[in-house]
Amino acid sequence: MTFRVLTTRRLLPEAESALRRAVSITRAPRLAEAVIVQLTDRVDAAFLDRFPRARCVSQCAVGVDNIDLAAAARRGITVMNTPGVLTEATADLTWALILAVARRVPEGDRIVRRGAFPPWDLEFLLGMDLQGRTLGVVGAGRIGTAVARRAAGFGMRVIYCRRRRGAAPPARGMRRVGFATLLKRADVVSIHVPATPRTHHLIDRRALARMKPGAILINTARGACVDERALLDALRRGRLGGAGLDVFEREPRVPAPLRRLENVVLTPHIASATHGTRAAMALTAARNVVDFLRGRPDPRHIVRP
Ligand code: GLV
Repeated sequence: MTFRVLTTRRLLPEAESALRRAVSITRAPRLAEAVIVQLTDRVDAAFLDRFPRARCVSQCAVGVDNIDLAAAARRGITVMNTPGVLTEATADLTWALILAVARRVPEGDRIVRRGAFPPWDLEFLLGMDLQGRTLGVVGAGRIGTAVARRAAGFGMRVIYCRRRRGAAPPARGMRRVGFATLLKRADVVSIHVPATPRTHHLIDRRALARMKPGAILINTARGACVDERALLDALRRGRLGGAGLDVFEREPRVPAPLRRLENVVLTPHIASATHGTRAAMALTAARNVVDFLRGRPDPRHIVRP
């Protein structure tokens, strides 16, 4: 008997082929034993009610804040995600944003495109030296650790904070501090926590006021972790030096005043968007379903409420 699986959106061709070889694809929610979702799907009780036979939901991403885990658990539905495969690509984009903000790369690009390249001037478009500065990593899981590892190449010190007590430093040379100390000491603060009720507006007005004047905020985690309005005020007042944001509170909407600021670099939630990484994510999401239906799920990919 073949298992029936529904995918809410197209997966990459290699993942679709892998899936078709192992299961049959259905478009009928009431027949699907598993459903592969993406992070723009709102997987709540109403969504799950359309899938009376579903035994698992496979998210093609690592973050699962679009999924009501409690509602899935109540229905006996296992939720799985794709951790690990997108760590390095996300860390790379985090650094792309750090460098772009610190060295004002998009501003320079806009000037050249406008035909406004001025004569050489010692004071033109000055940025922040990263060498000798402090990177503050909020949330030292896989991605935070990969971001921290790259800091050595730029001569930066790394401090980090995380909830789990007693664990060894995730990488050499990283020093653990409390959240308030991190905000006070870091020249670049980079967020790497999941979106949960605890991390909602983790960077709020108060946190922003604690940051070093001129510091840079980077968010490649989830928009909900930062109070966008408070960030906008801090940037407008020149309290922060700049921000690099790949994620926003109400995607795909990005507030117009934020879009008008020069000292922010904005990317459209593309931290994991490389050919290799997106293929690995899609294949992992497909494999998760097949392994689960065959009774051999990878326990590292099961998300508990
Ligand atoms: C992307 O944002 C992900 O959670 O994988």
